[in-house]
Amino acid sequence: MVAHLEFVHVTKHFGAVDVVATPFDLAIDDKQFVVFLGPSGCGKTTLMRMVGGLDTPSTGEIRLRGKAVGGPDRRRGMVFQSYSSFPWLTVEQNVSFGMRYRDDLSEEEKLARRDHYLDLVGLQEFSNAYPNQVSGGMRQRIAIARTLACGSDVLLMDEPFGALDALRREQLQTELRRIQRRDAKTVVFVTHDVEEAVFLADRVVVFSPRPARIMADIDVRARLGEERTLEMRDGADFFALRNEVLHLVRTYAGSAA
Ligand SMILES: Nc1ncnc2c1ncn2[C@@H]1O[C@H](COP(=O)(O)OP(=O)(O)O)[C@@H](O)[C@H]1O
Ligand SMILES: [Mg+2]
Repeated sequence: MVAHLEFVHVTKHFGAVDVVATPFDLAIDDKQFVVFLGPSGCGKTTLMRMVGGLDTPSTGEIRLRGKAVGGPDRRRGMVFQSYSSFPWLTVEQNVSFGMRYRDDLSEEEKLARRDHYLDLVGLQEFSNAYPNQVSGGMRQRIAIARTLACGSDVLLMDEPFGALDALRREQLQTELRRIQRRDAKTVVFVTHDVEEAVFLADRVVVFSPRPARIMADIDVRARLGEERTLEMRDGADFFALRNEVLHLVRTYAGSAA
């Protein structure tokens, strides 16, 4: 079986700075929710940018369904740390922008999807505002809604929930996991939050400090199953696994994580 997304002997350096020094190999299955967990500055964003076709490996290659990644591709949706939104488009236009290639959807379906995701991220009443008229956290939610609305089969999310308050964050985590199961998406999600990683993931990959190396690869799904709910978050299994992963992070990734 061809992996959905595959890193094949990838290395990356910027001048003399090695971000990924040892060849990096990782195969991500179709519909797998993988979380990259690692200390700040270890190279997570660089890896994600390469998956997104925004940067290229120094050696090796990244393959999407067996084909080397070239430039950006609409089948991959990304939410970056910068949570970029288009300042000249309103909030709702920003969300619709994510669906511009969806020829399979009627105008009504696009509007319904737009409203669904605006509602999900709590921005319905700001539909007609411009990004510079809303808070940073709201701009982040615009980018999340746009990415989810576009419905690409690979979601690349780089610390997307960082600036959100705890409740909104928990709500979006639960919803993201639900969407991923329902729409059968492959997700690569970056965070330095252990609890978020364990709650969301089928699989957590723990990184070393720069240059990024894989220190642990944890099969969360085997331990917690597929369904994730707020109730299980208070349960003993979740707590035990969270502690194990926290311990791994302390051991391998240093206190920065
Ligand atoms: N364009 C670039 N030029 C030079 N160094 C870079 C560039 N992008 C990232 N780096 C360096 O690569 C390292 C990893 O960065 P990054 O991938 O952003 O880490 P993370 O997302 O894990 O915090 C950092 O030391 C950063 O300074
Ligand atoms: Mg980063």
